[in-house]
Amino acid sequence: MDAITLLKQDHKTVDGLFKKFEKTGEGAKKAQKDLADKMVEELSKHAAIEEEIFYPAVREALEEEEDTILEAIEEHRVAKFLLSEIEELDPEAENYRAKITVLIESVRHHVEEEEKELFPEVRKALGRKKLTEIGDQMAEAKKSAPTHPQGVEPKF
Ligand SMILES: [Fe+2]
Ligand SMILES: [Fe+2]
Repeated sequence: MDAITLLKQDHKTVDGLFKKFEKTGEGAKKAQKDLADKMVEELSKHAAIEEEIFYPAVREALEEEEDTILEAIEEHRVAKFLLSEIEELDPEAENYRAKITVLIESVRHHVEEEEKELFPEVRKALGRKKLTEIGDQMAEAKKSAPTHPQGVEPKF
């Protein structure tokens, strides 16, 4: 499968969860928690396959995207930190929706940069064959990818 198609599909799945969450009423705590659990799972898997397979392949092929990739990795760390808090947070907490709203804003910003700035350059630089190879690797890796945020501990 084409790597960029796979990643865009993931983005769409996650945005679907965000939209559903945004439509939940204040009292719909069970629905909010279920959607948040799905966000944690989908985003953890997606971040892992990008970090382990896609980003290193881009760094290798496109030296000029180095800064974009380093920034993307930091954005992943922020998102995963929020996910680790969201996992632990009681849906009844007064800041539950606020925390998820900040996650949604930050992931949407990140996804927009990937789709509008990074992916078109990657598509130009890597051939169809290489993109399919990376996509197949990611599809395979997704089957055993972590379903909870990894690498949240500070390491700077
Ligand atoms: Fe990403
Ligand atoms: Fe992504």
